[in-house]
Amino acid sequence: MKVLVIGGGAREHALCRSLAHDPDVTAVHCAPGNAGIAEIAELHPVDVLDGAAVAALAAELDVQLVVVGPEAPLVAGVAEAVRQRGIAAFGPSALAAQLEGSKAFAKDVMEAAGVPTARSRVCSTAEEVDAALDTFGAPYVVKDDGLAAGKGVVVTGDRAEARNHALACDRVVIEEFLDGPEVSLFAVTDGETVVPLQPAQDFKRALDGDRGPNTGGMGAYSPLPWAEPGLVDEVRHKVLQPTVDELRRRGMPFSGLLYAGLAITSRGVRVIEFNARFGDPETQVVLARLRTPLARLLHAAATGELAQLPPLSWSEQAAVTVVIASHNYPGTPRTGDPINGLEEAGDTAEEAYVLHAGTKRDADGRTVSAGGRVLSVTATGADLAAARAGAYRAVSRIRLDGSHHRSDIAARAAADS
Ligand code: AMP
Ligand code: GLY
Repeated sequence: MKVLVIGGGAREHALCRSLAHDPDVTAVHCAPGNAGIAEIAELHPVDVLDGAAVAALAAELDVQLVVVGPEAPLVAGVAEAVRQRGIAAFGPSALAAQLEGSKAFAKDVMEAAGVPTARSRVCSTAEEVDAALDTFGAPYVVKDDGLAAGKGVVVTGDRAEARNHALACDRVVIEEFLDGPEVSLFAVTDGETVVPLQPAQDFKRALDGDRGPNTGGMGAYSPLPWAEPGLVDEVRHKVLQPTVDELRRRGMPFSGLLYAGLAITSRGVRVIEFNARFGDPETQVVLARLRTPLARLLHAAATGELAQLPPLSWSEQAAVTVVIASHNYPGTPRTGDPINGLEEAGDTAEEAYVLHAGTKRDADGRTVSAGGRVLSVTATGADLAAARAGAYRAVSRIRLDGSHHRSDIAARAAADS
């Protein structure tokens, strides 16, 4: 099978890496890719938001599967443009991708499907905002109703800050605060059958100790030694299957990757958000542990054949990934800085490897930073402590001027397990 992956972040690097290791895969193409992906896949320039252009590229390359990584092309209808060309595509239609693209739509689906989530209100005027802030009280949770790469959400005890954020957006969702640890659970689905992957935990805040602003994600680990063994099954029954069934009932079947962002609260599991794609950086650790070859799984989802697939097989090992971010991320990041030590980092242990997020080759052939999150340094090990040690050893070899990373990824889970 020849496969084309759309996107160019660490998630796509992880996807391409798994596909490159898959014996069923004869060629991995990626558009647009990045400097790291270039080492394992053939790169092609494309406007990822242009469905016709992506479909034409897939036809020209004669691939049997297109995997759409990021949310923006999904919301723009790129997966269905590929399907219309008669090529299997992993990713939901534009309509189904609203589950991520519109927080208000997601809340409506959850209500109809009886999926547990935070009580919320959609607000577009200052009066509605004030009333909702009063109803739910502090800590305040205010979400821009649109795609914001994880950065449109403000959680704060400061009413003025919450109000200012709400008024700066056209339409916001204001909701009750959910206490308890967060879990990211991905499921591969063909619109009918739901196959959950292993859970992971992401670190959303920029700084150690969960301080600082929200980011796209600064690191992740899997498995979660502290989670109840029945968690995945419970979420499949209460969240994933009802959501997929509700979207099919609405005539907008969801096929692709359904990502449930969950809070394990004192009152039970609640959905914080849905995404319509693999999460980044959780994908890096989930795929590091998936033994089942990836291409067949994604192809089965894209072609409605998931029910025929044998159960997934998982490594007993743990995985940890640590994101190295540019100077000033998640504000406007500085780019163009040379990255050194990449080879030494990959050499530290055979279980550690560097996935590229925002990188490119400059005119002199050097690898330089090209985005906010630059690298996702991933390692596996016998347990979380070993995986964590491997990842941080590799991180310590990398030199990127002005960069920052969290030093506490998976620290608590490793210490407790
Ligand atoms: P979202 O984009 O909806 O995932 O929100 C980004 C982050 O904000 C989440 O990962 C949580 O850490 C936090 N968050 C969102 N909604 C809530 C909530 N209702 N209660 C507590 N924290 C939340
Ligand atoms: N890790 C958060 C996200 O992918 O949205």
